[in-house]
Amino acid sequence: MQSLSTNQILFNASFSKDEFKKTYLAAIEAKFGKKQETIVSYPGGKLKMKKELNEIFTEMTKTNKFNTYIDGFFGMGGSFKALSDALLEHQVKEIIVNDISRCIIIMHKCIRDYADEMIEYYLERIRCDIVMPYQKLFIAAEDLIIVKKKWIAEFESLQKDKKFGIETSTLFIMLCAFNFSGVVQTNKKGDIRFTQKLFCINNIKNFLFNTIGRIRTFNELYNKFDMKFYSSDYFALFQNYQYKTDTLWNIDTVYLKEDYSEYKKADMENIKNSSIVGCTCNYGQNDFDHIGVLETLKNINFIYNNNTHPLVYHYIKKLNLPYKKFIRHEAINDNIKENAKASQNL
Ligand SMILES: C[S@@+](CC[C@H](N)C(=O)[O-])C[C@H]1O[C@@H](n2cnc3c(N)ncnc32)[C@H](O)[C@@H]1O
Repeated sequence: MQSLSTNQILFNASFSKDEFKKTYLAAIEAKFGKKQETIVSYPGGKLKMKKELNEIFTEMTKTNKFNTYIDGFFGMGGSFKALSDALLEHQVKEIIVNDISRCIIIMHKCIRDYADEMIEYYLERIRCDIVMPYQKLFIAAEDLIIVKKKWIAEFESLQKDKKFGIETSTLFIMLCAFNFSGVVQTNKKGDIRFTQKLFCINNIKNFLFNTIGRIRTFNELYNKFDMKFYSSDYFALFQNYQYKTDTLWNIDTVYLKEDYSEYKKADMENIKNSSIVGCTCNYGQNDFDHIGVLETLKNINFIYNNNTHPLVYHYIKKLNLPYKKFIRHEAINDNIKENAKASQNL
């Protein structure tokens, strides 16, 4: 008797939701057991600064006992993940996470509370949008583009109506798997936008093999702590939680522009009147108040992160803030950059 291919087995199972789930999980189970380091890997993620973040944390815990950790700009939670073992070890159980993007915050909350439902939703999308119509899992690039467009349209329609929940949270993770280096774009209102283009057909492997692992890994992690989720502007959160000596803040703000030559010429000559403007990626927050954030630091225990910039030094000195210099290890390697250039020029 001829044995069936994985595609045929999955297609046969796809007529029943439960059967498909069982078959799919069994077919690629070995891949799902793997722990994942990130929910979504992207260049702003701070997992790459794990060593440095832990060094600073160790230094600070020599003179402080922290009970609470507040992440004012949570993003994809890379800084928190990098510090999570140390936080557990030091019994810092209360974790307050905040990001101005409601969609992002609801996604983290759903991962903690509704991981099984998110996985069900993900499997349904694979069954209904890929396996049933195409009768296979690894579809061609042109078909994947069509499927991706459909998911983007659904995500954007839910986002427009501010209906953030299990669907937007799962679609967000799914769609990020197809983004170039995970870069999430936001428009001026702070809404998330996904590119229609497919940067690399190999992303489908990441999508098929890692999505469940990502959800499960972070569900497990978040349930180890007492986590509270906020979607506020940093300054509002700061007002409520400043002056708490048992609290450590992680402030991984919007990045300053790395090319500051224009400031050198004009502003550095007249530093008293200069302000820091411009961000490499403003996440939809125009005119981000970098100096305002620096000024909040004197009232809290903090780890603050930003690009080097002469004006930051000026304010660090003026405000008498302690600092350390680190080399940032880039997440994007030259090879991927070349591919990106090539695909952008198409
Ligand atoms: C550099 S990312 C944080 C990366 C994160 N530490 C990680 O490792 O994944 C900056 C985040 O700040 C958020 N953000 C921008 N302006 C904000 C504001 N005014 N208040 C709070 N969050 C803000 C953005 O939505 C973005 O997710």
